[in-house]
Amino acid sequence: MLEVLDQIEREALSALDKVQDEESLQHWKVVHLGRSSPLMTTFDRLGGLPKEERPAIGRRANEVKRVLETSCNTREESLRQVFLLRTLRSEKLDVTLPGRWLTQGRLHPTTQTLRQIYRIFGDMGFQVYRSREVEIDEYNFELLNIPAHHPARDMWDTFHTTTAGVALRPHTSPGQIHVMREYAPEPIRVILPGMCYRYEQVSARKETQFNQVEGLAVGNEITMGDLKGTLSDFARRMFDHNVRIRFRASHFPFTEPSAEMDIECFLCGGVGCRVCQGSGWLEILGCGMVHPTVLRNGGYDPRKSMGFAFGLGPERITMLRHHIEDIRYFWANDMRFLEQF
Ligand code: PHE
Repeated sequence: MLEVLDQIEREALSALDKVQDEESLQHWKVVHLGRSSPLMTTFDRLGGLPKEERPAIGRRANEVKRVLETSCNTREESLRQVFLLRTLRSEKLDVTLPGRWLTQGRLHPTTQTLRQIYRIFGDMGFQVYRSREVEIDEYNFELLNIPAHHPARDMWDTFHTTTAGVALRPHTSPGQIHVMREYAPEPIRVILPGMCYRYEQVSARKETQFNQVEGLAVGNEITMGDLKGTLSDFARRMFDHNVRIRFRASHFPFTEPSAEMDIECFLCGGVGCRVCQGSGWLEILGCGMVHPTVLRNGGYDPRKSMGFAFGLGPERITMLRHHIEDIRYFWANDMRFLEQF
């Protein structure tokens, strides 16, 4: 029996010598150390041997097992080294090659302007309030003092939906009613930014989709002076400290009195050109004192509360700041345009 074990050991070791790769090593393991290998079956047969022989044979079998295992591990390690050396020699890595540039995303120019608008009004104590883009007729018009069939509705060419009375908002003003109804009779000071939609003939100055930022302040002692002060200060912070602005009387059904604010044309410096259509001024917002009917619809008592509101166009402002002459660039997704900001 002891000779058999010697022979098992000899044969296994010489077979191991011929192993040259990982695959044949696995095969060797199965044949020489696996459950049904000659060595392992020897252990199973120990019980059938005469009692006196068992200790010596058992000891020797364990010894052979240890020898085979260590040799196997050594072989495995040296195979790994050989493999590593071979890959190191065949694969070359040039660490001096220049890397690939990561393309860095940027904020859309309108988003940049919007964030600056939030910051400026935030400094003046205005909070941002989000309102919905799909509105019912009541909020889009009626509660804003624009009854059905009233010709003033022509100011907003609205996209209607297939559900009667439901439309995309043509301006952010319906948000005024939502905020007032949520906070009345408390004083409020909010801006309401968001996308608006109008059924427009698309041109260099008009798009069917654009942002607006509505502003609304309601309280006990709010005057037209506060409105002018807030908006002139906004213009100075947004553009330049010396920017020239003017307020021009206008009309909106939901404000009384109403005005529009113009900014001196960036292209001609006020002389008059194609962009400002010869006037020297560019309109950037509509504003006014909140109409008593609108205050009442929002849940305020117009004898006790008053307020001002305005609606400005971030795309218009971005065009002014960056001398962009065509509003259609904003949604065209042309990288040559977007990469400039
Ligand atoms: N909602 C008006 C528009 O889109 C702008 C505006 C807002 C005017 C608030 C006055 C007060 O034309």
